Amino acid sequence: MPSDDFDELSSLEKLRDILCNISGNEKLANRFRALFYLKSVGEQWKQDQSKADTAVRYISECFHHSNSELLKHEVAYVLGQTGNLTAAPILRDVLEDLNQQVMVRHEAAEALGALDDEGSLQVLLKYFNDPKEVVPIKQTCELAIERIKWANSDKPKNEKIEKSLYSSVDPAPPMPIDAEDADNLQKLKFLLNDQDAPLFDRYRAMFRLRDMDTDEACEALASSFDDPSALLKHEVAYVFGQIGNPIAVPHLSKVIARSSEAPMVRHEAAEALGAIATDDVLPVLKEHLKDPVEVVKESAIVALDMYDYENSNEMEYAEVE
Ligand SMILES: [Fe+2]
Ligand SMILES: [Fe+2]
Repeated sequence: MPSDDFDELSSLEKLRDILCNISGNEKLANRFRALFYLKSVGEQWKQDQSKADTAVRYISECFHHSNSELLKHEVAYVLGQTGNLTAAPILRDVLEDLNQQVMVRHEAAEALGALDDEGSLQVLLKYFNDPKEVVPIKQTCELAIERIKWANSDKPKNEKIEKSLYSSVDPAPPMPIDAEDADNLQKLKFLLNDQDAPLFDRYRAMFRLRDMDTDEACEALASSFDDPSALLKHEVAYVFGQIGNPIAVPHLSKVIARSSEAPMVRHEAAEALGAIATDDVLPVLKEHLKDPVEVVKESAIVALDMYDYENSNEMEYAEVE
């Protein structure tokens, strides 16, 4: 569909049909746009719970209407970001569905953490403790458990957390600004890279570095791109997309070019490059339009499409009236 049709969208059903590609002709990037419109309704549950719940249900239909790992992982992410607890049982089902791809199950577990849902602790513990489970899922569950425990303790009230520049609900809060090492770049870098430290603390150092918003902090973040944890690296790539500092471009370009790197990391590097969108990013993304890893290829396609779209001045991306 032409993109300006989104201006006239009146019904959630129409958005669902685009998201789920009922016509069979929707471009992936348009399906993403429909998802973000639905998200903006799903997150307004305080104003209108029933309309928000309808949006959440429609978003969730995508899990059964798509094979795209990229789209479904984004659907899981978005559901967690709505803060709407109606999404919790749906996300638990996705985490438990071993037919869903790893990135999709990972994002479902991460989203359960973002929802701060104590009712999900049991299922998160199940996969955290499962010796057969793959490492990125185990680590995601570990983080989600720690986040839920943190969110349901006195800590959010008592800790001095700097208000983030970003609207995302992250897998861990940043390190409090009154913590001893909160302004010590070297110590934060050390903690981020300390494989013996709890992952939750390493993430807290990561988000503190993000919020410092300096070139030096970006270099400290990039130092973790040789860590064995794909999960940690994918989050650092995500954070680079948020910060938007072009200093990250060579690091992200190196990561996306590593064929041995986990798809979730390379995918997130592609998205971050798309978000930074300096001139030197375009050839890098174009190179991956035919990447043999589907989720990387799709990420490059969507990132380039968004780039064209944002530069066409047709409308603000994913804004809803
Ligand atoms: Fe993720
Ligand atoms: Fe992602």
